[in-house]
Amino acid sequence: MSSTAFSHLPHPSPATDERVAEVLAAPGFGKYFTDHMVTISWDAARGWHDAQVMPYGPLQVDPASVVLHYSQSIFEGLKAYRQPDGSIASFRPWANAERMGRSAERLAMPPIPEDLFLDSIRELLAVDARWVPAAGGEESLYLRPFMFGSSSGLGVRPSEEYLYLLIASPAGAYFPRGLAPVSVWLSTDYVRAAPGGTGEAKCGGNYAASLAAQAQASAQGCDQVVWLDAIEHRWVEEMGGMNLFFVFTDADGHHEVVTPELSGSLLPGITRRSLLDLAREDGATVTERRISTEEWEKEVAAGTLTEVFACGTAAVITPVGSVKYDGGSFEIGDGTPGPVTARLRSRLTDIQRGAAPDPHGWMERL
Ligand code: PLP
Ligand code: COI
Repeated sequence: MSSTAFSHLPHPSPATDERVAEVLAAPGFGKYFTDHMVTISWDAARGWHDAQVMPYGPLQVDPASVVLHYSQSIFEGLKAYRQPDGSIASFRPWANAERMGRSAERLAMPPIPEDLFLDSIRELLAVDARWVPAAGGEESLYLRPFMFGSSSGLGVRPSEEYLYLLIASPAGAYFPRGLAPVSVWLSTDYVRAAPGGTGEAKCGGNYAASLAAQAQASAQGCDQVVWLDAIEHRWVEEMGGMNLFFVFTDADGHHEVVTPELSGSLLPGITRRSLLDLAREDGATVTERRISTEEWEKEVAAGTLTEVFACGTAAVITPVGSVKYDGGSFEIGDGTPGPVTARLRSRLTDIQRGAAPDPHGWMERL
């Protein structure tokens, strides 16, 4: 526990129970927000101070604030799950706290102490627990911690003041078609991140820069963009807001689960890291290495690359069913999630929902 005390300003007219039930019945993703939010301020003299739980609502931001001009902003994404006994737990929140610290460092921002990050989640859930969907289903409460440079001034330098916030949003399936395989566009016109850039930080600018490529993917009839390396445009990095996995199956039915190695320009996903452990425990060979688009197409054609899926907090595990690029396209699988994809998905979600033991201690009661 950190020593920072939170002040509480309860919402004067919180959503009715009927409204909460209506939202939880069909939450979508990122559309509805709970009654409250957390704000914590930083300046050099006081460090992190003035932690508050207050009604969710608009902020006052100076028009010359650093974030509006130079995008000094980072965020995290994690989920809280209702457990079968009615309690609430989140998945590896310490890993998100740690990653936010690394993102902060890259963007020249003061890291939020990890215990304060955890406390902010506990404080918000203590007042908005009724927004956590019922146990057992696909739904959860998506938690979005973020922070930005809030001081004013047009000189290009780190902000002198920062605001950390935590908002929460009930979440169902990220993709409207649920578990149906997505189609992907291999982007060569645009790259997401180059060596030495901000690719492994979770900063807002990375996502702003992805939008034109995502629009190009949509124009090509694809659901998502797949990013390739910035130099050769050949090595697979990741997909939209998710990491990618490739399942190779040999003649004896043994699986090798391959994911692109952390190149410095892709986001080190917490789901990625967890699935590597689960796949290893399931007896698969697990490999982090470079994988090229040529290998992807060739091995699918040869029948040895049997499944491809993407993973991340928001979208959990989503199969990739077809690939398109400038000059070609190919399909993977039969339009349903492959067996390794399905097995890893249920292994992961069972732990998250409290339906299976948690030998790694990944779930944090809140
Ligand atoms: N890659 C990108 C670009 C992301 O935005 C995310 C989502 O956070 C991921 C990968 C997956 O990371 P995680 O599993 O920690 O959610
Ligand atoms: C997440 O999975 O938490 C993400 O951040 C992906 C996307 C919503 C940005």
